[in-house]
Amino acid sequence: RAQPVWQEADGTFVVGGFREIDALLHDPRISSDPSNLLPEYADKAPPPDAPGELPNALIRTDPPRHDTLRRITMRQFGPPHRPDLIDELTPTLEAIVTRLVDGLAGKDDADIVDTIAYPFPVEVITELLGVPPEDAPRFQAWVEPIVNAFGDPTPERWRARTDAFKQLAAYMFDLAQQRRGDPGPDMISGLVTDDGPEGRLEGGDLFATLVLLLIAGHETTVNLIANGWLTLLRHPEALRRLRTEPDFSIRLVEELLRYEPSVHFLPNRSAVADIELGGTTIKKGHPLVLVLASGNRDPEFIPHPDRFDPDRTGNMHLAFGSGIHYCVGAPLARLEAQLALTQLAKRLRDPRLIADPPPYRISPILRGPTHLPVA
Ligand code: HEM
Repeated sequence: RAQPVWQEADGTFVVGGFREIDALLHDPRISSDPSNLLPEYADKAPPPDAPGELPNALIRTDPPRHDTLRRITMRQFGPPHRPDLIDELTPTLEAIVTRLVDGLAGKDDADIVDTIAYPFPVEVITELLGVPPEDAPRFQAWVEPIVNAFGDPTPERWRARTDAFKQLAAYMFDLAQQRRGDPGPDMISGLVTDDGPEGRLEGGDLFATLVLLLIAGHETTVNLIANGWLTLLRHPEALRRLRTEPDFSIRLVEELLRYEPSVHFLPNRSAVADIELGGTTIKKGHPLVLVLASGNRDPEFIPHPDRFDPDRTGNMHLAFGSGIHYCVGAPLARLEAQLALTQLAKRLRDPRLIADPPPYRISPILRGPTHLPVA
């Protein structure tokens, strides 16, 4: 509130204002590539050449390389290969979430994270990529150390992350080889056979992209659904409207993304030149943290930001980032949350939170409950 841009004692610049974050995300002087950090800050970012490390995925690259990787990836999320991805996926997603919610029938209580919020996005991303569903538990074991190391990169966590990365990459390598010889309608087949104008993703770039999609599909939407269900149980009027009002889920999910964003801050930026912003000079090469969750509640930009209000007009938020790295999976994540929350609202009778607040995951970047027991 007092200062939209400030510097921490360790040299990190932190940005919390909506306009300032949005401006930086559109500023070509901002980099997502960890090699632009000054050497004294390099340990704050994943070492680019750690053993077993893949090349940087598109989320950690800058133009022109980023543009190439992103264009190739986007061909699998829209035209020419999937012109109507959302329409195409809706019946499959509805069938998956219906089956998962059917599994709650006859139970007095259930953990909504274990039964819906986690398995639903995992099934969706594995289906989309064409990963055999029976392998999903193995991913969970690989993905967790990869994600947790970002929040607190101790040497032990970093080692566990590197091991998990290697195993995941080896698994993906086998799967990609297999699809090259026998392609199907899935995204892995699409990526390994597509010869678009930018060429084909090969070797490390292919695995880095697949691992990014897998992790992004696993670790973010689960929090949107869990945070969403928690917020609904704390706001019974919104729960009632979700049961009865057609299309309420669209406005509801937009407000959830603003009010309880899954990704609380973007840690992977630095400036490639000194930048004057918000009364501060952001110095070249220092770590730069953009606090999306704070921007989403900036009182200078959003009226009554601490009020949960699905009826906001022109609702704007930073939950999916902004600018060139804007989330590739945003339409998919929105659809998953709309379908899951609507099914839960319509089919659970008088749901009640057993623990409020529920236990939260340790990652400071990704915020959401580890368990959400509901009676
Ligand atoms: C990028 C959030 C779901 C794929 C991002 C970024 C955010 C974000 C904030 C920007 C990162 C940056 O600027 O450094 C979310 C949230 C989700 C979600 C809150 C769910 C609620 C998904 C899903 C997928 C996905 C389901 C894939 C199927 C990606 C990819 C990028 C990205 C590939 C990198 C884009 C680039 O660097 O150009 N996401 N995401 N996300 N997201 Fe998501």
